Amino acid sequence: MSQRKHASIWFRGLRHRRRFKKRYDIINYFVRTRQYKTYLEIGTGTGRCMERVTCASKTGVDPAPKRKDPDWTLHQMTSDEFFHANTGKFDLIFIDGLHTSDQVIKDIFNSLAALAANGVILLHDSNPLTEEMQVKDPQLAAAGQWNGDVWKAIVYIRKCFPALFCRVFSVDQGVGIIIPDEDDPPPAYTPEVEKHALEFFENVTWDDLQEDRRNLLGLVDNQTDFEGEFRRHQSKRNRAK
Ligand SMILES: C[S@@+](CC[C@H](N)C(=O)[O-])C[C@H]1O[C@@H](n2cnc3c(N)ncnc32)[C@H](O)[C@@H]1O
Repeated sequence: MSQRKHASIWFRGLRHRRRFKKRYDIINYFVRTRQYKTYLEIGTGTGRCMERVTCASKTGVDPAPKRKDPDWTLHQMTSDEFFHANTGKFDLIFIDGLHTSDQVIKDIFNSLAALAANGVILLHDSNPLTEEMQVKDPQLAAAGQWNGDVWKAIVYIRKCFPALFCRVFSVDQGVGIIIPDEDDPPPAYTPEVEKHALEFFENVTWDDLQEDRRNLLGLVDNQTDFEGEFRRHQSKRNRAK
């Protein structure tokens, strides 16, 4: 093989391995491959992600947005207020608002109810690498990098709602992904589920995460055949029905 051809294959491989670097690479992958039209972002902040998302229709929710854009529909309110009034459906919902497990679990269940058929939920900050980054104190968010304990909501979903395909891409602080089975009605956030989830969050610890991070979060990376894992999950579900 010529040196040139060898280099070109190597570069293609490198590009493939680096397929996802940032949260919006993953978002745009789903927009492209599933031909999504409607995008909802919970917590838009400076709009860094919103401006890069390639979806035709973009809706944002943030009680204190740092940027507005005439091309987006922006709701200046909390996610709870938005979902309470919402009647729309979205192909992809990106949860990146208040990073506490008790809020994130509500955002997940509200998103499941607002998800269009064949839709996907993504969650930022799902894989904190240090204990400090996951301290449950929203005030720390202002001080710099803060992932919060979003990870606890991911662990809870994986343990208690195994019908939902749930993984975390280990890029850009961890990007959680939840894909429900199209044929199932969305699970409801009943008072029983809420009580159970809040107890779970009290009991699951940083040491638990450190001991079994890969399995608890369902970590995947750019080398993982993620679509294959999803297909296997679906076939297992279909066989169990
Ligand atoms: C980390 S920033 C979002 C960054 C943005 N998604 C991005 O990727 O560029 C988090 C945002 O969530 C907003 N936020 C805080 N509490 C919220 C809530 N209850 N509902 C919705 N957004 C909230 C904050 O105002 C802040 O702008």
